[in-house]
Amino acid sequence: MENNLSNLHLTFIGCGVMAESVVAGLLRKKLVENAQITASHPRENRRRELHEKYGIKVFEKNSEAVESVKAQENSGVFLCVKPQRIKGVLEEIKETVSPEQLILSIIAGAKIEQISDALKNEKIVRTMPNTPSQIGAGMTAWTCTEKVSGAERAQVRSLLSALGKELFVESENMIDMATSLSATGPTYVFMVMEALTDAGVHLGFSREVSKELVQETMLGSVLFAMESHKHPAELRNMVTSPGGTSADAIYQMEKGGLRTVLSKAVYAAYSRAVALGQKK
Ligand SMILES: NC(=O)c1ccc[n+]([C@@H]2O[C@H](COP(=O)([O-])OP(=O)(O)OC[C@H]3O[C@@H](n4cnc5c(N)ncnc54)[C@H](OP(=O)(O)O)[C@@H]3O)[C@@H](O)[C@H]2O)c1
Repeated sequence: MENNLSNLHLTFIGCGVMAESVVAGLLRKKLVENAQITASHPRENRRRELHEKYGIKVFEKNSEAVESVKAQENSGVFLCVKPQRIKGVLEEIKETVSPEQLILSIIAGAKIEQISDALKNEKIVRTMPNTPSQIGAGMTAWTCTEKVSGAERAQVRSLLSALGKELFVESENMIDMATSLSATGPTYVFMVMEALTDAGVHLGFSREVSKELVQETMLGSVLFAMESHKHPAELRNMVTSPGGTSADAIYQMEKGGLRTVLSKAVYAAYSRAVALGQKK
């Protein structure tokens, strides 16, 4: 497939964990050259670290980072600071950003309208990744304004592929929905993982053995489900023999309300995402 990022110049505002994951992924996959990427960071030691690790230019001032890519025909600004910094950052860069630049944001709760109004720019992409992105195995939901062209959307797909899989969703409400399902998702999985490992220890396994049994079972089950394309209930039925162990375990999980608890947890996370978005 042709590399559609070969002429994109991109700057990362706030180069912390998530921005570094994108930069590392893009360079590892050779989707961009290091000369196509710049960043900003307030701390000198972090600027040096990023420069030494990735050979990219890192500026102290956010506006200088935007300036560094602005002259290019095809340029983007990726907002990667924490939510509490967004107002200040938009204020700092608003005079430098041009209406032609593509603006991407990874910031949880930051609405497209807020970014667009502050920067007087109508080409906004809002993304919502999750923590496995840090090892290139993430799931990122994203949406964008109508002004983002087909070619730019294709570039966004390529960019986000540096973090793992990506999925375009049609509205910001769906970003809130994805926030509760895929972005908060690792929390549910880690909690189930922890509970099962504890249950193994309760039975008498060492923690190490229990952890390995649980992790490999979770990984294998996910891969099996994906490869078989079967409904989870069908897969579950396959391992549930009459009067067997799974039947007893299922009975207890249903009695304990596992499905309802998970559904309520996802809904609570969704309500929180909506409320945080309204606060801004
Ligand atoms: N982690 C996830 O899985 C995940 C998932 C979805 C969305 N997100 C979003 O991704 C964004 C970044 O998260 P993260 O985990 O990468 O956070 P992070 O590691 O803290 O990265 C933010 C970076 O911005 C720097 N910074 C602070 N003030 C700044 C300023 N005024 N201008 C420029 N840079 C500044 C911080 O420096 P210091 O180190 O000195 O503070 C830090 O290195 C957040 O908005 C979060 O909502 C994260």
